[in-house]
Amino acid sequence: MKRRIGILTSGGDCPGLNAAIRGVARAAYETFDAEIIGIMDGYRGLIEGEYRLMSKPDFSGILTLGGTILGTSRRPFREMRVIGDDNVDKVAAMKKTYENLKLDCLVTLGGNGTHKTANLLSEEGLNVIGLPKTIDNDIYGTDFTFGFHTAVEIATDVIDRLHTTAASHGRCMVVEIMGNKAGWLTLYAGMAGGADAILLPEIPYDLDKVAKMVETRAKNNKAFSIIAVAEGAMDEKESKLKRKERDAKRKEQGFHGIADRIARQLTELVGVEARAVVPGHIQRGGSPCAYDRVLSTQFGVHAADLIKKGKYGVSVALVGNEVTHNKLSDIAGVAKPVPTDHQMVDLARNIGISFGD
Ligand code: F6P
Repeated sequence: MKRRIGILTSGGDCPGLNAAIRGVARAAYETFDAEIIGIMDGYRGLIEGEYRLMSKPDFSGILTLGGTILGTSRRPFREMRVIGDDNVDKVAAMKKTYENLKLDCLVTLGGNGTHKTANLLSEEGLNVIGLPKTIDNDIYGTDFTFGFHTAVEIATDVIDRLHTTAASHGRCMVVEIMGNKAGWLTLYAGMAGGADAILLPEIPYDLDKVAKMVETRAKNNKAFSIIAVAEGAMDEKESKLKRKERDAKRKEQGFHGIADRIARQLTELVGVEARAVVPGHIQRGGSPCAYDRVLSTQFGVHAADLIKKGKYGVSVALVGNEVTHNKLSDIAGVAKPVPTDHQMVDLARNIGISFGD
């Protein structure tokens, strides 16, 4: 059996992409007659017909490498069916590249946006398999995405390091953690780093309650506090606004992000010396942790097995301890926020962590 496999990575990069690519390739070469074509820079390469015929050595030595050897780009799903000034029909162009390359299937490694386009291509008749990656862990149907645990490690290390300087100066450190609209990364890193407050997009906060926590700690001879805030967090008033209105209001306020705002507001309210810390893209950089190397490899090997069986229109997933797959049409575009009654949230509350609510 011969199979020509196109593979691409799309959306924001994350640690584990190369490990997953390697997993697909090694299992494919090992278990059937595979030819692998690397599509460059995500869907851009598929639209513009930019690709690279790959061979075994290309997949060697990349297990621990961060980023993606194929390059990536963001091509918003909402624009896929829109013909812009360049007059390119993107869907037709992607199908043409697939046909020109005589692909038997396309493996797409990406997050929610990537999965929506993967599903679109599947509906257009292409054989597609998705692999869920993102540091945000916000893809429905899988317990974990690869990249997430590495980002948790990095964000936890940031919080650990803030502890010592916060304690020495008696300051309040407000650390802004990535995750887009989901709070998973902040919840896990906040727990692992021993944050005093964890502010999530899913649980709107009341600044007075956060201030109270800082004051109470100070009264109890803890002159410092650590607040882990998700980049998508919002206060109770903001949570009632539409996203556009919220963005406009924030622009007016002129703060440099949510951590900056909370740090300044706490200084004003409680008189505490506060600092905002934004680790930003560091959370997506570098080598994958051991967990992600294993998960990426498991996902990649599962994808190769699906190709061998000719099973397409699915996305690989981890459910419990089992690597499995979901129909793309069932999961594409479905968000996975932190449930407000999630066990981890209860657990955090039980050890006195404030969610500001
Ligand atoms: O989806 C991953 C992520 O890092 C989010 O956590 C963050 O909101 C976003 O990407 C940042 O996007 P960009 O890399 O385009 O700045």
